[in-house]
Amino acid sequence: MIDLILTVNQVVAILYKGFQAAVQEPRLLGTTENSLGLKAWLNSLGHEFVVSDDKEGSNSDFQKHITDAQVLITTPFHPGYLTRDLFERAKNLELCVTAGVGSDHIDLNAAVDHKVQVLEVSGSNVTSVAEHVVMSILLLVRNFVPAHEMIERGDWAVSDIARNAFDLEGKVVGTIGAGRIGYRVLQRLKPFDCKELLYFDYAALPEAAGKAVGARRVEDLKDFVSQCDVVTVNCPLHEGTRGLVNKELLQSFKPGAWLVNTARGAICDKDAVAEALKNGHLRGYAGDVWNVQPAPRDHAWRTMKNPLGGGNGMVPHYSGTTLDAQARYAAGTRSILENYFAGQPQEPQNIIVGVKGYETKAYGQR
Ligand code: NAI
Repeated sequence: MIDLILTVNQVVAILYKGFQAAVQEPRLLGTTENSLGLKAWLNSLGHEFVVSDDKEGSNSDFQKHITDAQVLITTPFHPGYLTRDLFERAKNLELCVTAGVGSDHIDLNAAVDHKVQVLEVSGSNVTSVAEHVVMSILLLVRNFVPAHEMIERGDWAVSDIARNAFDLEGKVVGTIGAGRIGYRVLQRLKPFDCKELLYFDYAALPEAAGKAVGARRVEDLKDFVSQCDVVTVNCPLHEGTRGLVNKELLQSFKPGAWLVNTARGAICDKDAVAEALKNGHLRGYAGDVWNVQPAPRDHAWRTMKNPLGGGNGMVPHYSGTTLDAQARYAAGTRSILENYFAGQPQEPQNIIVGVKGYETKAYGQR
């Protein structure tokens, strides 16, 4: 006789609240209200499913439930920060799933030490972000935000805008990181007839891929930024990239360069960027990622400006959470869970940390 043992897993999800918007728009799947579309399915399998947005401090739902959770689902948009201390307490934890791309809010080295797997839905929102990058580059270079604000104010002073507006054609644009997003940015920029497209990455693009976009690799970071009119950051946050764009590196940027960062806020030094924008060394800074999320109300990046009163293209973290992206990362999260419950192998491209340690080179050269 075969004994049937029904395993009940506790699945904990930390998501952002969607409020009225999530009720009106069921495609906002990444919200606590719509719970990645997983609730009925997980309950039908008999699993316990705890969903909350409450993630900070020892009394938070996140910290209370992590002690029992077998599976943790988080999202980079409202990151539940899983520190080494919390790993110590998460005795039952076997799997962390990032609904989206970017798992730096999990202490990955601690995950390796505790033999907890970390998976992402790789590729799920890379086009969404690449489009946002191209938009951000254009809105900075063309001085769009102050132009629109002027119109809303009821003013009309063309030269106040035009004095700081340029064409992207003929400029040098470079990406730090030429993976899924960085490469898509290069592909999308090709028709703009930039003077040159550059990339800085410890992994060289395959020859044919590099040729297809006409991108040149520069191996020294200072040398790379000194050649760029526009720098876009598209690498993961890890020990080797935290604070990478700091005061010292900014000094090697061309005076009046534009910087776009949709990768992670902590890759750029908050104060050094604000200062470089204020003194005009940077003409503009745009992105959707912040060193702490949600960003405090007084975060310098909310209101920083260049000497002409523009150059700020900051928005909340949403480039990778369009409705199209949410459908993809919700489906990808379910498929990871299905594999896990069935004891099936996971898609290799989704595995950041596997049972034997790191399975990707994207989070540092290991
Ligand atoms: P990917 O893994 O396809 O590419 C990352 C690339 O960065 C790799 O080619 C890797 O070699 C390179 N890299 C790593 N460390 C580097 C370093 N020190 N210097 C230069 N290059 C380095 O990742 P993908 O899909 O392109 O995503 C990149 C990052 O974008 C994610 O890790 C995440 O932080 C961020 N992201 C942001 C989103 C948003 O909504 N704002 C959504 C999705 C991703």
